[in-house]
Order: sequence, then structure tokens, then C-alpha cells
Amino acid sequence: MQLIDGKAVAQEIREKVKKAVEEAVKEGITPGLAVVLVGDNPASKIYVSSKARVSRELGIYSETITLPGDISQKELEDVLKNLNSEKRFHGILLQLPLPPQLDEERAIESISPEKDVDGFHPVNMGYLSRGHPRFIPCTPLGVLYLLHRYNIPVEGSSVSVLGRSNIVGRPLSILLSLKKPWANAAVTLLHSRVKDLKRHLKDADIVISAVGRPEMLRGEDIKDGAVAIDVGINRVEDPAKEKGYRLVGDFHWESISEKASAATPVPGGVGPMTVAMLMVNTYLASARVEGIPWGIDDNILNSILETKKGEKIG
Ligand code: GUN
Repeated sequence: MQLIDGKAVAQEIREKVKKAVEEAVKEGITPGLAVVLVGDNPASKIYVSSKARVSRELGIYSETITLPGDISQKELEDVLKNLNSEKRFHGILLQLPLPPQLDEERAIESISPEKDVDGFHPVNMGYLSRGHPRFIPCTPLGVLYLLHRYNIPVEGSSVSVLGRSNIVGRPLSILLSLKKPWANAAVTLLHSRVKDLKRHLKDADIVISAVGRPEMLRGEDIKDGAVAIDVGINRVEDPAKEKGYRLVGDFHWESISEKASAATPVPGGVGPMTVAMLMVNTYLASARVEGIPWGIDDNILNSILETKKGEKIG
């Protein structure tokens, strides 16, 4: 079985973004990212600090804005709208989930589509659905990248995507179905209400799980030689660990790795790709707004994003 090493691939991408950022800085442009965290969800805090740390490592200017968990809808929207007009921020990321009293849809809609580096704004979801993505959500972009980086045939393949969230499952299912050389797949979007889920899984050449249920899928659930992409990052109690928990995916690793032809581990698979792609999207936002030539030299990214090194973004 081929281990899909997202950790190593994410590192390669970060190096390329770093070079592109250096070129932008020489032109007088420093890409900037505002990360907004509401409340103190422990997993969100870890994600946000890693987004800020990686930004700095790549020369991207980053600020984390931490807001109290009991903030009102109006106050949150005012913070986001102010960030829209701050020239030093090319990208704005609102970490999800939000505390329950807040309306996620309206909060996302307060972010300018030009700065929506998560690609969650309905305008950007619309562009994506129509086959002209402007920002591709980071995790779906990371998954697409890994498939192509490992030469996994996507075009014409049967792909089952498990989970229909707006963050991963739905955008990824749409992307994979687009009429593009890097997509053109037969996509089945599966979820908890589907009868006979396992029958659909068995037909798939590529199974992508993004449901967040620890070790829900086992080797016997997939076709012999299928590719297994695990987007789940689940904490399970483990008294033997210092933190009291360990991370597992949606796939049961031991049994999946005996059946799959290629698979992503957890941790070290899709997770690091999400942050790397956030850096790509932040750089993309700055290059587009500032009109600087595209500086990332990577065939897979340039094919998916329809960008070309040395050319301005249309
Ligand atoms: N929560 C889980 N994944 C994501 C993500 O990709 N972006 C944001 N903003 N929040 C998340």
C-alpha cells in the first residue's frame, strides 16, 4: 500500500509559497491574513495557532483576533466588516464552528468575497459550483492536490464522498464532478440518511470520508485496491497518552491499510494540507488584489487554480 504523506507534501507546498511570498515582498507587497477566533473551543485554538505560526514562517503577515464566546452577532459582523477595509489583510478567516448563539451564515456573508480565503462565502461557493472557482476551500483543495500528487486517476473514476458539510464534503463533491481535466469523476455524495451506505462505498475507486466518526470505516467496507482519503480528525480518550487523548481518523487504519492501494494516515495526511492550502489562498488573494504576477511554481496547483507562473491572475 502507498502511504500518502500529506505532511511531506504540505512541507513542499509551504516552501513554494514561501518563495512566492519573498518575490511579492520584493515588489513591496506583504500578503496578510486575519484569523478570527470566537470563544475558546480547544481544537479551534490549536488550529488557529498553527495557522498563525505557519503564516509567519512563510513571511505572511498574520494577526489573530480573539473574541469572547458571548459576543453578539452585530459585534462579530462589525469586526469582520472592519477587517474587510483593512488594506494589510488580503485574507480573512473566521474559524468554525461558532458558539451556538451566533448565525454562521450571516457571519460568513459579512466577509468580503475577495478576502474569503476559506471559500465559504455564497458568492465563492457559487463560482465554484458554476465551474469557475475563485477560492477553493482549503481542505478540498488539499485532497485534490494529494490525489494528483500521487498520480491517482480521478478522471472517469467513481468517487464516494462521505459527509455533506459546507467545509469539505459538499464543495469537494462539486469540484470532483466539474468538467476539468483534474476532475471529471462520477461522484456519489453519501451521508447518514443514505440507505445501504456500504453498497455505495463498495463501488468506489476512491473513498473520501469527512464525517468525524472515529474509525467508522473498516477495510471490509471498501473495494480491494480502492484509495482511502481520511479527512476525519477525531479525539479518542487514551489514558496512556500525556494529553489523555489520541487522534484517529474516520477509517480504521490497520484494516484499511490491508485493503487499500493508497491511503492517508491520521495525523499526517490531509490535516497539514489544509493549512498549506490556506497559505496558497492567502497568497492568491494578495496577488489578485495587488495585481502582482503569480509566483508559485507548481504544475498541480497551477492546473487546478488555472494560474501560470509569471502571469497576473484574471
Ligand atoms: N473548522 C474546521 N475546518 C475549518 C476550515 O477549514 N476553516 C475554518 N474557518 N474553520 C474550520
